[in-house]
Amino acid sequence: MSIKIIGTGSALPEKSVANEDLEKLVDTSDQWIRERTGIGSRHISTGETVTQLSAAACEKALADAGRNAEEVELLLVATCSPETGIPCVACQVQAAVGAVHAVAFDLNAACSGFLFALHTAWAYMEAGICRNALIVGAEVLSKLVDWTDRSTCILFGDGAGAVFAEYRGEPDIFRFVQHADGSKGGALRCDSRQLKNPYTEAALEAPWVQMDGRDIFAFAVRRVPESIGEVLEKAGITADEVDLFVLHQANYRIIEGIAKRLGQDMEKFPVNLDRVGNMSSAAIPVLLDELNRSSRIRRGMKIVLSGFGAGLTWGACVMQW
Ligand code: UT7
Repeated sequence: MSIKIIGTGSALPEKSVANEDLEKLVDTSDQWIRERTGIGSRHISTGETVTQLSAAACEKALADAGRNAEEVELLLVATCSPETGIPCVACQVQAAVGAVHAVAFDLNAACSGFLFALHTAWAYMEAGICRNALIVGAEVLSKLVDWTDRSTCILFGDGAGAVFAEYRGEPDIFRFVQHADGSKGGALRCDSRQLKNPYTEAALEAPWVQMDGRDIFAFAVRRVPESIGEVLEKAGITADEVDLFVLHQANYRIIEGIAKRLGQDMEKFPVNLDRVGNMSSAAIPVLLDELNRSSRIRRGMKIVLSGFGAGLTWGACVMQW
């Protein structure tokens, strides 16, 4: 059985930071960043929070769906950069938008977060626990990035995307695959607060993103096409039948590598990372919102979503829009 996304929304911080601006901060160049990543600029928070961006995206998704907040039964926020450990972002968004009847909680699967939240929402609906859900991917990664580390600070952007989905009892091609490999978690990590209490030595805190870019690159180009192949087989369709591949926006060269392995034209792989950078869990829902609003996604199209990142986590989903 399937769920249908009937509304999308997104919100980005006001400030856009171009590659040329970063040349003033670290030893880098617009040319290097464009050639190695495809990124030209990204939005960076000057105060907007994960909760505020999420709430703004949710309001737009609800308006697009023609639903009001009181109808929402499940509110999931995928994020790895919340402002507060408790309460979770989803509860704060619930209060902000007035989704008073919704069950609300967060989920962290880094760049695969939105995809995993969508799957969780589907499972809740399939189990009869709820009939609709607001699913959000939102990050303010700029507070977790070391702004003196040129290998990471040029990559990430801040933003939020949301979709409103409803359960449809009809069988269709909606299928999912999800994977995780914790043994490779060191390739991309960001430490949280260190243990510090009256019974321990004071620990050094280093709460910055640390990444082995080459490892992540190789992992993505190998695992993503595999998981897309898996999900297409489950759905009983071929890559040629897919209209659009909406992938996590980490690096243009990664997307090209995946397209090549799948034997598909880059035309089928929409890209917005040139303007927004890598927004982790927000990447897929923000791109979906852009595609929906520009009518590049139309009803009936067969769409593949695929996310990958820290954990390591990765997965794919196929749906008929
Ligand atoms: O959402 C998932 C999370 N992350 C990712 O998906 C990231 C995946 N990885 C990547 O996108 C790429 O590996 C990067 C864009 C991070 C790096 O590109 P690369 O082609 O793998 O470069 P590299 O790490 O092999 O570095 C090549 C050179 C190095 O210099 P040397 O040792 O050859 O002299 C780096 O020090 O480029 C240097 N470098 C830079 N130079 C200018 C690294 N960052 C920069 C920079 N500007 N910003």
